[in-house]
Amino acid sequence: MSKKLKIGLFGFGCVGQGLYHVLNNSTGFKADIVKIAVKNKNKERTVGAELITYDKWEILNNPEIDVIVELIDDANEAFNIVSEALKKGKHVVTANKKLLAEHLEELYLLQQENNVSLLYEASACGSIPIIRSLEEYFDNEELEKVSGIFNGTTNYILTKTIAEKLSYNDALKQAQDKGFAETDPTNDVEGYDAKFKAIIIALHAFGLIIKPEDVLNIGITTLHDNDIKYASEKGYKIKLTPIIQRLEDNKVSVFVAPRFIKENNHLYNVDNEFNGVIVEGKFSGEQFLQGRGAGSYPTGAAVLSDISALSHGYKYEFKKYAQKKAPTFTNDVLIEAYLRYTSEEDLKRIVFDEITEQYTGKDYHYVVGKVNLKNLIANRDYILKHQLFISLVDEKVSRPDVTVKSSIKENVTTKELVNY
Ligand code: HSE
Repeated sequence: MSKKLKIGLFGFGCVGQGLYHVLNNSTGFKADIVKIAVKNKNKERTVGAELITYDKWEILNNPEIDVIVELIDDANEAFNIVSEALKKGKHVVTANKKLLAEHLEELYLLQQENNVSLLYEASACGSIPIIRSLEEYFDNEELEKVSGIFNGTTNYILTKTIAEKLSYNDALKQAQDKGFAETDPTNDVEGYDAKFKAIIIALHAFGLIIKPEDVLNIGITTLHDNDIKYASEKGYKIKLTPIIQRLEDNKVSVFVAPRFIKENNHLYNVDNEFNGVIVEGKFSGEQFLQGRGAGSYPTGAAVLSDISALSHGYKYEFKKYAQKKAPTFTNDVLIEAYLRYTSEEDLKRIVFDEITEQYTGKDYHYVVGKVNLKNLIANRDYILKHQLFISLVDEKVSRPDVTVKSSIKENVTTKELVNY
């Protein structure tokens, strides 16, 4: 029989309030929020003062509280709270993807050593139940790939700026007002948030623990009208898409970059703050999950689902990681990409192994072809500094073929036009 849990909540922002609402309006499940720890003493709160504390120890040292729900912004302080709670034998639910991605191994060990449960469905793709699907349904199946749209803010911005012609700043402001964006939206627009989620998903899908600094994230900050025009003329939409893919030799590559999406792709119609996840299994084939990737109630609902799972004694098994049969991680892969560049110097640095299309205009130049991910990683700062834009044109990732030379193929389309 399930037990009524006593919760100590950290953070009462967008998601904390969402959880409070969802919990109080849920008919099927009950749990008590005993105390809520917040930082800002000057903020007006929508709950009674008796529920609020500014002292984290009031929650952590309370023996009545058996579950800590961590929904604060500061990933470092979140790590202190979560690790302390696990050591004290309390179960933890968190939505903090940065905390998780940066400390996956330590947190895995802490919950094992202390025989408690750490659940985090809300950390990846809002209300889409991707972690539990990977843990429970795909626990034994060898997966080929997990990809999709993992960030609501960038998808909202791309939808509003491209389809509805809103300015970038207005679209971002709306995403912030609606509670989709991180406090520092750099994490969203530069692809960090999507990368943290990809790292969490890679653990459950492939049994891999990867360090965030080893994974490329290129965001949407350098997107230009010419890129949008290129994509629209070809009938593509632009989405920020993480790709976690198993390669022929049992290596897995993980990265986040913008991608041109064709109409026949599931992700084509995933707009606004919605997220979409495509899971490809060796035997099951392709599954597509879509849902609200951000926002107070959808994320609160995902947290509630974890709390409810805890009341039944649920714990992640991390089967693929624990069995130590995980593939190894690599960045030595070729991707097919479009690069808008400005000078020949750019192409000397970002060397394409194959070029299939090239255009040189007065103020607009691009190449399309195959480039090694390692090369992009080495030039990430250069790409951002020089306002270049890179986008995948195909989602296929392949291991480099040693016979491919750095040359322009014969069927290359090279145009010399003054105006685009
Ligand atoms: N800022 C995140 C997003 C919130 O936009 O997807 C949900 O993780």
